Order: sequence, then structure tokens, then C-alpha cells
Amino acid sequence: MKQYRLSSIILGLSLVFSQCKSKQIVYYELPAEMSTDVRTAVQAQCEKGLVLYRLNCAKCHSDTVKGKEVIPDFSPEQLSNYEFRFANKKHEDNLNETQLTQDELVCIIAFLTYKKKNKT
Ligand code: HEC
Repeated sequence: MKQYRLSSIILGLSLVFSQCKSKQIVYYELPAEMSTDVRTAVQAQCEKGLVLYRLNCAKCHSDTVKGKEVIPDFSPEQLSNYEFRFANKKHEDNLNETQLTQDELVCIIAFLTYKKKNKT
């Protein structure tokens, strides 16, 4: 009985920690000349993109360093005109249009473009 209680506490704690990890805050660097309205819209797009990135891309592209989520800094070249769906076999198999709509892909690209860069 006691052992059972202990294991449920451990399970509960690990659930709490995994929840915290997935809620890690990501900051954005938006161009200063962006107007407030545009900024608000882009920020909302980025927030959506972050969720979609975690669902669709993170398993292959994110790292965990000292318990922290590290999202790669893709270059503008990698993100501009980049045909994600057919870039390689893994993308072909995982990112077709039934799995990810064009609008969703646009949000993910906005998110990856404007997320704050990692410290090096
Ligand atoms: C099943 C694994 C997998 C998934 C899921 C995946 N990728 Fe990739 N991705 C790869 C591999 C493998 C490469 C090529 C090697 C590399 O650059 O890491 C790659 C390369 C890339 C590149 C670099 C292309 C270049 O020009 O060098 C970008 C950008 C990228 N992926 C973005 C994404 C985004 C955005 C998503 C989610 C919508 C995603 N990937 C989902 C495996 C994946």
C-alpha cells in the first residue's frame, strides 16, 4: 500500500514536471519598425506556430539540453522559399498536406523566423 502511494506521488510529480517543460516560454524578436497592429498579429501567428512546431517538427529538430528545450535557429535562407514538404524523405513521409495545412506551415515559418535566437 505504502509503495503504491509512493509510486503515484512519483508519477504525479513527473507529470507536473513534463507539463512545465512543455510550457517553457519562448520569446520573439520582432522588427522595431513593425506597427503595433502587425506586431500583435504576427505574435499570435508565432504562438500558433510554436504549438504546431512542437507537434510536428520538434521530435526531429529540437534538443533537450540540461532539461531545457532548444529549438534550432534555422537561417533565413533555410526558411525562405523552403519547400518543407519535399526537402527530404523524412519530410515527405511526415509533412504532407493532410498532416499539415499550408496555413499551419506559414505559422511555423513565422515562428521559426521571429523566435529569439539561442545563446551560443
Ligand atoms: C521525421 C523527422 C523530421 C520531421 C518531423 C521534420 N524534419 Fe525537418 N529535417 C529532417 C531531416 C533529417 C533534415 C535534414 C538534416 C538536417 O538539416 O537536420 C531536415 C531539415 C530541415 C531543415 C533544413 C533544410 C536546409 O535547407 O538545410 C529545415 C528548415 C527543417 N527541416 C524544418 C522542419 C520543420 C519546420 C518541420 C515541421 C513542420 C520539420 N522540419 C519536421 C527531419 C525532420
